[in-house]
Formats: sequence, C-alpha cells, structure tokens
Amino acid sequence: MTATPAGMTYANYLKLDQLLSAQQPLSQLHDEMLFIVIHQTKELWMKEMLHELKLAVRLIGEDRFAEAYKAMARVSRIQAVMTLSWDVLSTLTPVDYLAFRDVLGTSSGFQSAQFREIEFRLGLKNPAFLEQHAEGSIERDRLEAALGEPSLREAATGALERAGFDIGDGSVEALAAAWLEVYRDAERWFDLYELAEKLVDIDDALASWRHKHVLTVERIIGNRPGTGGSAGAPYLRATLEKRVFPELWSLRTAL
Ligand code: HEM
Repeated sequence: MTATPAGMTYANYLKLDQLLSAQQPLSQLHDEMLFIVIHQTKELWMKEMLHELKLAVRLIGEDRFAEAYKAMARVSRIQAVMTLSWDVLSTLTPVDYLAFRDVLGTSSGFQSAQFREIEFRLGLKNPAFLEQHAEGSIERDRLEAALGEPSLREAATGALERAGFDIGDGSVEALAAAWLEVYRDAERWFDLYELAEKLVDIDDALASWRHKHVLTVERIIGNRPGTGGSAGAPYLRATLEKRVFPELWSLRTAL
C-alpha cells in the first residue's frame, strides 16, 4: 500500500484546487455555471463507468461472474444518477440557455470521447466516430485502444461459448438463439442468465439516459440544429433505436 503523505488534508487528497478551478464560464450569465457543472459531473461519472466496465470485461473473461456483477451493478446505479441529473439541467429555460449558447461555438457533447469510449466498451463499435478526434490525440488513442479490446458484449459472448453454446456465425439471430437456451433453462444456466439480465439493465439505462437527453434538448432548444452540426433533436431521436445487446431484447419475443 502507498504511504499517505504527512499532513494530508481533504483538499489535498481530492485535488480540490484543480477540480474547483475548472469551472470557467465564458459569459457573465448566471446560468452558464450550471451548464458547465452538469457536463463536468457527467464526465466524472463516465470516468468511473469506464473504470468499472474494464473490470467487468476482465472478470467475465475469467468466468468470475459474481465479482463482475458487482461492477456492473455499480455501472447501472451511476447511469441512474446520470439520468436523474437531467432534471437539474431542465431548470435551465430556453431563454436562459439561448442567452449564452453562442459562447459554445461548435462544441457539443457529440465530441465527448468518454461517451464514445463507453459505447465502444459496451459493444457499439462504430469507427466512424474516431473522425471527431485528431489523429495522435489522447482521445483518439484511447478510442482506438477501446476498439481493439474486447467489449462487454464480446466478453459475454465468449462466456456463452465457453459454457458450450453454439454461437454460429455470431450474428444477432445466432446469439439470440443461444441466449434463448439460457433463458429456457435459467436454473441450470443461472450465472449466464443473471449476466444477461445485468447486460439488459445497462442497455435499458443507456436508452433511458438517451431518452431524457432528447427530452431535455427538445425542452430547451426545440428542433433547432445542434452546436455540433447535427439536425439536433431529430438526430438524437434516431439514436434511441440503438441497442448494445439486440439479441437479448429480441429473444424475449421467442421465449
Ligand atoms: C442544454 C443542454 C444540452 C443541449 C441543448 C444538448 C444538445 C445536443 C444535441 C443537439 C446533440 C446532437 C449533436 C449536435 O449537433 O450537437 C447532442 C449530442 C450529445 N450530447 Fe447533448 N445537449 C445538452 C446537454 C448535454 C449534457 C449535459 C451532456 C452530458 C455529457 C450531453 C452529452 C451529449 C452526448 C454524449 C451527445 C452525443 C450523443 C450521440 O451521438 O449518441 N449533452 N446534444
């Protein structure tokens, strides 16, 4: 264990001087502080989610399910807090926001590298999003690493295969058929069954976060285009269809 430096204080340990000097509104307007704090807290929670997701992937790869569930449960709780926090942001009225929106320029949550890394590490690996980050940047390197490493979906598929299930060509249909066998004999395959339900918890919570985001966006900017250059709410509504584990959703119809 690392020795604690003598005279350690709360502020030293948490690097509060750095943390609390990172809120620097560009306008003189009262509400910009909330906008900054909400984004920064979400980035911090995303950092912790990534920390837990990497652990969960490793543990599932070693068939250490009970330990993986603990990390995954933590991810789900963080997602719930992140979804709830949209209610704080929705106290920002359209008038409040439009007053300082210009200072954002072309910056947008669309460029959040941690959000994209979460998608990649869950299993939504779309390399097109790499283009948001310059080659050689830290963000791009992290995203490329995440693309090359096993995602939660790949780790779960690996566990299914090790347990002897035929995953065929690895397509959504083939995976749904394999998971269906698990659900039909849940007592026998309880570890995998519980794993699948934890994965659905995370997918469900991600969809809820997306849903609350688009509602908040519609409430604040209506159907204006986004600062990141997309159509705005229509783009975000299209992302509501995304599922990390489509096979775990489709099997329910066949059960
Ligand atoms: C007034 C508040 C907000 C508005 C009006 C807003 C608006 C938008 C819009 C219009 C987009 C689509 C891309 C674009 O053209 O810019 C977007 C994407 C995104 N925003 Fe927000 N946003 C807000 C707050 C937040 C917050 C607090 C976060 C938290 C980190 C966030 C994270 C994201 C992410 C991750 C995306 C990409 C989603 C995807 O591609 O699936 N946004 N936002």
